[in-house]
Amino acid sequence: METHRFTLSFNYALFLVVILSFLSIEGGLASRLNRFEPGILMPTEEVEPGVDDDQLGTRWAVLVAGSGGYGNYRHQADVCHAYQLLRKGGLKEENIIVFMYDDIAKNELNPRPGIIINHPQGEDVYAGVPKDYTGEHVTAKNLYAVLLGDKSAVKGGSGKVVNSKANDRIFLYYTDHGGPGVLGMPNPPFVYAMDFIEVLKKKQAAGGYKEMIIYVEACESGSIFEGIMPKDLNIYVTTASNAQENSFGTYCPGMEPPPPPEFITCLGDLYSVAWMEDSESHNLKRETLNQQYKTVKARTSNCNTYNAGSHVMEYGNTSIKAERVYLYQGFDPASVNFPPKNGHISAPMDVINQRDAELLFMWQMYKRSKDGSEKKTRILQQVTETIKHRKHLDSSIELIGTLLFGPQKSSSILHSVRGPGLPLVDDWNCLKSMVRVFETHCGSLTQYGMKHMRAFANICNTGVSQVSMEEAATAMCNGLDVGQWHPSSQGYSA
Ligand SMILES: *[C@@H]1O[C@H](CO)[C@@H](O)[C@H](O)[C@H]1NC(C)=O
Repeated sequence: METHRFTLSFNYALFLVVILSFLSIEGGLASRLNRFEPGILMPTEEVEPGVDDDQLGTRWAVLVAGSGGYGNYRHQADVCHAYQLLRKGGLKEENIIVFMYDDIAKNELNPRPGIIINHPQGEDVYAGVPKDYTGEHVTAKNLYAVLLGDKSAVKGGSGKVVNSKANDRIFLYYTDHGGPGVLGMPNPPFVYAMDFIEVLKKKQAAGGYKEMIIYVEACESGSIFEGIMPKDLNIYVTTASNAQENSFGTYCPGMEPPPPPEFITCLGDLYSVAWMEDSESHNLKRETLNQQYKTVKARTSNCNTYNAGSHVMEYGNTSIKAERVYLYQGFDPASVNFPPKNGHISAPMDVINQRDAELLFMWQMYKRSKDGSEKKTRILQQVTETIKHRKHLDSSIELIGTLLFGPQKSSSILHSVRGPGLPLVDDWNCLKSMVRVFETHCGSLTQYGMKHMRAFANICNTGVSQVSMEEAATAMCNGLDVGQWHPSSQGYSA
């Protein structure tokens, strides 16, 4: 990763801008650090005539961090950062609704108490973020109620909802762990793709917006929309990954570029920092959603290597991407003269898949605690327990498959991936009930176990009855003491 620190004086700034735009040598790290001085405009550029702000409806935003825990620092950091970005763009606090567990800033593991950063050299992004829905109130139900503007259905929190009108625009940004067909929430159940799409349809039917864009970072995030996202809802969606791959954390300890040495957790996620750092280095009255999509796609693929990177996907009505980004994210006056190739990303960044980030975090904690201390023993125990439960989940699902389909066919049925354009599962209620049956007997899926959603979906797609599933799960897990992983303490994922 190259970093260039320029101290520009106005006289040769233009020269540098031209050189930079040819060579594209500026590294990603530099993009947020180096702000070009105002007053520089490429001779060929025209400022977008723009829509009169009076004619635009209200800009709304819903920001969701779907996790809790210090090991997931990065998701809440992403969301706080997004909030600051939108405020700089002129969105009003009353129009931005934030879902975050809010256990990071004051966490005992946070080396900078009261502060959250989303970039190795980043400034605090936590100050001023409204606590709309925190802790136990970060739920799928509240998310749906907020989107629908249904104040009476909201439980707890600030009660702020998307009270939008037909001429308004909505930006929804979600970041967390996911799995085929689901997005995580710090309090179960998960967000199920079909429930989420139904909410969008209702919102549209109620005339609740003019257009909407949705950015989603999660593993298998494409599966939330693949085959079920209608094109006629006036919604444009991009996701960090396709329906069958991981998404990635970045700015992680021991990786390049690293967080400050005192951090034992990743600071951001690859797709998320890609769109935010792109927005912050451009004049959003000039940049189109399509340009942002392309830049983010290139960066999230780790410079088209797809070597530990993912495929950014798009869904819904792709005509909308011809629009300028500022219609959703606002416009920061300080960006007015940013050059079009500001902050061009040329270097790949080290990343870790979302599911292993938790283990990396625990491992860092272990390495940094005092040898022989009680704490060190406790952490090791926790690592062992976590790995044990992961293995238990993996093997019990494989074995249930063997009971249901026989040893020959089991693996190919459980892991089969439907072609593009087809939904994960035909009967989403079946998916939920299979998950409940499994968890009742074999313990909670947890953040990690979300990855097995495809197996449950395929069990449904093959027409297995709930009775047969019940028998298989009982046979596999009967008498097993799942201890802390029992859904009575963890909650059901469905
Ligand atoms: C997609 O959006 C464009 C631009 O708003 C609109 O003209 C078109 O009708 C939409 N397409 C569908 C299928 O709704």
